Amino acid sequence: MIENNPRLIEESIKSGLPNNILDDIDSIFIKDSTESTNDNAKNHLKVQKALFSMHLAEQQTAGRGRNNRKWVSPHGKNIYLSLGWKSKLLHSQLEGLSLAVATCLISSLKEFSSKNIQIKWPNDLLINKKKISGILIETSDSEEGLDIVIGIGINVHMNESEGAEIDQDWGNLEENHSNKLDRNKIVQSIISKLHELFKDYPQSGFKKYHHTFESYNLLKDKLCKVEMDRETFKGKVIGVNEVGELRVEKDGEIHHLRYGEVSIREL
Ligand code: ATP
Ligand code: BTN
Repeated sequence: MIENNPRLIEESIKSGLPNNILDDIDSIFIKDSTESTNDNAKNHLKVQKALFSMHLAEQQTAGRGRNNRKWVSPHGKNIYLSLGWKSKLLHSQLEGLSLAVATCLISSLKEFSSKNIQIKWPNDLLINKKKISGILIETSDSEEGLDIVIGIGINVHMNESEGAEIDQDWGNLEENHSNKLDRNKIVQSIISKLHELFKDYPQSGFKKYHHTFESYNLLKDKLCKVEMDRETFKGKVIGVNEVGELRVEKDGEIHHLRYGEVSIREL
């Protein structure tokens, strides 16, 4: 019988992964509690030799989202995963990366939910308009190339009181609090998809993921409110372009919005 909500275990994550992936893993770190797995991945990249490392925790005490917003990270319920990737990407390829990661993440999470999972540009995953996952990508230049941390938070079994602090609608990957999903299996599946991305993205860029991204694009054809540093406007989302910018139509003109510059909400 499967134990309900088993803890994260290195051997369970590795079991079943093919050798070509195992060979590219530098190390897997699993902590009971840590400040932020993104910081752990960033530090490890300084000594990392192989293609990628994995940093997981049962709990984060200072989990963060974009713009230093708090990522609520209670113990034992969710996935907090950061991958340290020694990449050869160019800075110009970063724009579409978080969208490509979100696309891979959905193809993996679909195996674990019968619900429709959508992406709210640039990289929030939602089920029934409730946020279940977020991605935080951080980079630094190194002698060999570009060091990239891909931080992924996924709500799996979080209960109402644990998520009470979250100031927007949120949900879980798991339906009906059935406590059936094994986080080790979910992490394993994510690693398989992201390993493919590590191999393909440097050549293909976002182009390869563009079409699939659009099929998950929650905001496509929707009237939205766009907030930027100096202006706020309403416009209709047309889709994303081949580098991952959001195309929004306002008064017959197309605006190209870049990740990091804007916050957008459906009206
Ligand atoms: P945007 O700025 O594009 O509108 P956003 O409001 O989702 O996006 P982000 O920085 O992407 O902001 O994510 C951080 C936000 O996510 C927090 O401010 C909070 O509203 C929400 N949040 C924090 N923890 C969780 C969690 N465990 N599950 C779902 N949402 C969370
Ligand atoms: C967002 O929606 O703004 C992104 C949230 C990213 C959260 C993950 S959890 C694992 C990793 N460690 C962090 O501190 N943040 C990311």
